[in-house]
Amino acid sequence: MKKYLVIGKPIKHSQSPLLHNFWLKKNNINAIYEKEEYEPSKLETLISKIREEKINGINVTVPFKEKIIPFLDELSPEAEITQSVNTIYFNKKSVVGHNTDIFGFETAIKDTKYDIENKKILILGAGGVVPSIIFALNKMKVSKIMLSNRTKNKAERLKKLSSNLKVIDWGEIPDFDMIINATSLGLNKEDKIIIDFSKIKKDKLFFDIIYNPGETNFLTEAKNNGNIVENGKKMFIYQALASFKIWHGVQPEINDDIIKLLD
Ligand code: ATR
Repeated sequence: MKKYLVIGKPIKHSQSPLLHNFWLKKNNINAIYEKEEYEPSKLETLISKIREEKINGINVTVPFKEKIIPFLDELSPEAEITQSVNTIYFNKKSVVGHNTDIFGFETAIKDTKYDIENKKILILGAGGVVPSIIFALNKMKVSKIMLSNRTKNKAERLKKLSSNLKVIDWGEIPDFDMIINATSLGLNKEDKIIIDFSKIKKDKLFFDIIYNPGETNFLTEAKNNGNIVENGKKMFIYQALASFKIWHGVQPEINDDIIKLLD
C-alpha cells in the first residue's frame, strides 16, 4: 500500500488526511494518507524515505515550506521562485519539490467570479504562504500589491519577489479593491484585526486564508459592511486537488460532500 503524509508543527488541526483519504477511497486507490508532527532535525531522514519509496508523497505545511528545500534534489519553477514547497514526489530517481498553493489561491479567486485584473490588493501578513499569493496575484495581472506585516522587515524581504510591491506600516489601511488576511489572526474566534470600515467603500473582496473557523471576525465585519467575502476553504481544497493529481494521475471531484466534509 502506498503511503502519503502531511508534515508540520503543529499538525493536529490539519484536515488534509480527511480530504485525501476521502478521494483515495472514491477513486479506489490502495493508499493511505496520514499526518505527522516533525522536528526540523528529522526532515533529512524523512526525505530519504521518499528516495527508498517507503513514503510516496509528502505535503508540507507551516513552518517547513522553506526549511525542507535543502534536502530536495529538484524544485519546480513555482517552488523555485517562491522558495516554498508544499508537495513532494519522487520522479526519475529525483526528489522533487513543487508548490500547489499558487494553483489553490488562483483557482479559489477565479471561483469567486471577482475580476482582480488591474486591481489594488492589500495583503496582511508575511508568513510562509505569502510568496505564493504574490506570485498568483501577479499571474492574474493585478495592478498593485501592498503588504503590511506586524514585523515590517519580514515584509521588506518579500519585495524582491515583485516589482509592484509596496510595504506599508502595520495598522495602515490604504485604498484597496481586495484585502487578504494571511496572518494567523482569526484562528482564535475572538481575534480581531482593526479595520476602520467608515473609510472603506462597499463591494470590496475580503479573502481570509483561514478556513477553520469558517467565518473569522475579519469576514463577519466585512460582510456586515456590504463586502464580498471568501474564506480559505476553496484554496485549501484546490491545493490538495493539485497534489492528488500529481501523485495519483487522477483529478478528484469537488462537490458538496467535499465542502461539508471540511465543516
Ligand atoms: P511564519 O511567519 O512562521 O511563516 P505563518 O503562520 O505563516 O508563520 O505566519 C504568521 C503571520 O501572522 C505572520 O505574518 C505574523 O506576523 P509576524 O511576522 O509579525 O510574526 C502574523 N501574526 C501572527 N500573530 C499576529 C498578531 N497577534 N498580530 C499581527 N500579526 C500576527
